[in-house]
Amino acid sequence: MFERIRRRLLRTPLFYKILWANIAIVGVGAVGGTIITIWHVTTFPDDLHYPLIAIFAGIGVLISIVVNQWVLRKALDPLDRLQAAVDAIRSGRSDVRVVLGDNSDERFDRLADAFNQMLEQLARDAQEMQQLSRQILQAQEEERYRLARELHDEAAQSLTSLLVYIRLLERARNPEEAQRHVQELRRLTARALEDVRRVAVDLRPTILDDLGLTAALEWRVDELNKQHGLHAVFTAEGMEQRLARPTELVLYRIGQEALSNVQRHAFASAVKVSLQHVGDRCILQVADNGVGFDPAATDRADGHGLGLLGMRERVAIVGGELEIVSRPGAGTTITARVPWSHQEG
Ligand SMILES: Nc1ncnc2c1ncn2[C@@H]1O[C@H](COP(=O)(O)OP(=O)(O)OP(=O)(O)O)[C@@H](O)[C@H]1O
Ligand SMILES: [Mg+2]
Repeated sequence: MFERIRRRLLRTPLFYKILWANIAIVGVGAVGGTIITIWHVTTFPDDLHYPLIAIFAGIGVLISIVVNQWVLRKALDPLDRLQAAVDAIRSGRSDVRVVLGDNSDERFDRLADAFNQMLEQLARDAQEMQQLSRQILQAQEEERYRLARELHDEAAQSLTSLLVYIRLLERARNPEEAQRHVQELRRLTARALEDVRRVAVDLRPTILDDLGLTAALEWRVDELNKQHGLHAVFTAEGMEQRLARPTELVLYRIGQEALSNVQRHAFASAVKVSLQHVGDRCILQVADNGVGFDPAATDRADGHGLGLLGMRERVAIVGGELEIVSRPGAGTTITARVPWSHQEG
């Protein structure tokens, strides 16, 4: 019972704490002063009472200062704790949380709760960022490995064969033999050139810089039709002007990843790629009629599948948004909407 009253008193707002303290001082002063004055007047009727008034005034002021200072110090203690937490965070600690204790004002509690929630959110964001950078580094390594393999397996193989044929050419005994080797050399050189070009184009298609997004996506779709026998269609509307380079690159990479996903996961028989200029937006859509998937299940950044995550990140960089509509058995449609910005120069 006493404890409950104490807790309630401690938790009253700051204004009431000061009010109650001052009422108590005035109350005690008035009652105590009157009792002592009556006693003094009746006991020493002939005395002067001015010194007594001065003593009362002095004691009253002293008590008021001490009590008010004590109440204020206690009441503002939560702010000191908040400040201490801020200082700890500034000095690099991230595990700090503010605990205000029993005598805190409700408004300070709300402030501390918001502060703690903000810290939790920051900690979560930092963890996600860390995981993302780990994934990006891993993806970068994988990409380097893939390129190294491709250069080694294809271009280097062709160049080695070239060396062999050059040696054979050196040792050719008659013009017919030499002619045969030269033909083979030409064929191998063309293949090596093709391999190197393919790796370079994969890294960054010059067609994107030279002819623009529409041509680059059209070329991707053509390649897909050639390689995999699935029927891919490309349409473009209102794309007479070129987009700013960063936006073109973002949309191209999204198209590239979406088409690579179709190739690798969708088992689709048809895919439609469309690029449209609508109002102040550019919309890229890649829709397949394949097996589909549950987008919610791939939302977690759990170390697999950077493709969709990368698409989202890229779209966000140019201020757009990405929509993934898919259901198992019902195909997949990926839509990227980005603000239209003209290419300068
Ligand atoms: N068009 C699609 N059809 C069916 N499933 C898809 C399609 N696109 C994505 N998925 C599913 O979503 C998952 C995540 O795709 P995401 O592109 O993020 O990763 P990934 O292709 O597996 O790997 P990465 O792109 O990093 O090489 C895929 O593993 C696949 O299961
Ligand atoms: Mg992918």
